[in-house]
Amino acid sequence: MRTVSLSQAAGGLLLLATGAQAATIQPRDTTIIVSDEVFGTPGEPAIYTPPSSGRCPPFNRGTFAIDAYQLYPENMDWDSKLCQVYIGILFNASFGIYDPYADALSVIEFPGYTRHSAFHVGGVAYDPYSGLTSVILGQGNAFNTAGAQIAGDNFFKKFDPRTRKFLWSLNATAVSQGRYGGFNDVTHDVHGNSFFVGTFPSSILKVDPAGTTIEEWYLPPTIDHTIRGYSGIALVEDTIMVLDSGTGQLFRFDATAEKGTPIPVPHTPNTPIPGGDSIRLPPKFGGRIMLAADHVRGVAVLRSKDAKWTEAEYLGLIPNPPGLPAGVLIVSTTQIGDKLYIVNDWFADPWVPGTVAGNKTTFPMIEITHQVNALLCNAGRTKRSAELAWSG
Ligand SMILES: *[C@@H]1O[C@H](CO)[C@@H](O)[C@H](O)[C@H]1NC(C)=O
Ligand SMILES: *[C@@H]1O[C@H](CO)[C@@H](O)[C@H](O)[C@H]1NC(C)=O
Ligand SMILES: *[C@@H]1O[C@H](CO)[C@@H](O)[C@H](O)[C@H]1NC(C)=O
Repeated sequence: MRTVSLSQAAGGLLLLATGAQAATIQPRDTTIIVSDEVFGTPGEPAIYTPPSSGRCPPFNRGTFAIDAYQLYPENMDWDSKLCQVYIGILFNASFGIYDPYADALSVIEFPGYTRHSAFHVGGVAYDPYSGLTSVILGQGNAFNTAGAQIAGDNFFKKFDPRTRKFLWSLNATAVSQGRYGGFNDVTHDVHGNSFFVGTFPSSILKVDPAGTTIEEWYLPPTIDHTIRGYSGIALVEDTIMVLDSGTGQLFRFDATAEKGTPIPVPHTPNTPIPGGDSIRLPPKFGGRIMLAADHVRGVAVLRSKDAKWTEAEYLGLIPNPPGLPAGVLIVSTTQIGDKLYIVNDWFADPWVPGTVAGNKTTFPMIEITHQVNALLCNAGRTKRSAELAWSG
């Protein structure tokens, strides 16, 4: 059993604070910040500004690696205003702010939760309208047990990157009452609402701009937490897109509706997207291109020419390049500057004794900009595998 007591977790924190971690390789240029936000206190409504992109300096590192012991990232997202990347540090259950130009990582820890084996930080997404970032600090058990066990607290948190402070935190378990869980990914509408998905079974919860309430926005007719469902969520205009990782199908929802109603989005060819995780609509394509992380196979690239997503073209699959350490899983994708990247993780790495994660010290960021462009260029002409791009 992978268990660690709260006091051990606190001990880990102390070790870090006193810098007594001589036995492990320290991440380069890492800053640790301890979050001091108050639980359950609603914040001020967010200030809305139109999304900007393209103001950041050109990013030209190509494929690179983030050298940080036990980073094990889940979702990452690009802040096109402050030109930095947010990272869900899965197993340590902390939150990373990464400056990709300076290769500098800051880690925000949540006392009592960070390095507690029950907790994961998975869902992380930047809201270009408010400039704020949503973070899901939730239970890992749902994912470790394929939904058999989902008990425990889950929190939806809002972070202000400008002050580097968490503004508020809501208890999702107080709403779900343990009936559904596995909270996985998050997106935002233009009005400042946040929508986050649960995987066991499919659920979508909606949070108002001020962080006052969590509303059950979509629940399936039968709530059975052993059924795997929605894993990724993304939004363009008033359309919410989700990927069902159980069936490999895409659905859309009207974000302005009182309650969510899933409408299937057929894709052609109808290549299933099994083992799905996050989905992203990279800002540079204005919501017309979707990157869907498919754990063991690759990144599925889909297109909706009018960004309405009533139907989609499946343009192809971009696998990881050969040579990555065994056990690699594609968990997400992110834009950085105007480049596109695969985010990889290794869920099955045995934990280093006394810690809550494996022994990896370096995490590759695989650039796939050219592969995505190749699929866009080839779409409508002869279908060609993006895999060729790695050898050519
Ligand atoms: C994760 O926690 C370990 C201590 O268990 C620490 O040494 C490491 O730096 C942390 N990793 C990150 C990315 O914060
Ligand atoms: C979150 O809600 C659950 C269910 O109501 C409750 O048992 C738990 O104590 C709450 N956690 C916190 C930190 O308030
Ligand atoms: C890391 O862990 C793996 C799996 O337990 C092991 O094979 C490898 O030797 C370890 N590497 C280091 C540098 O400790």
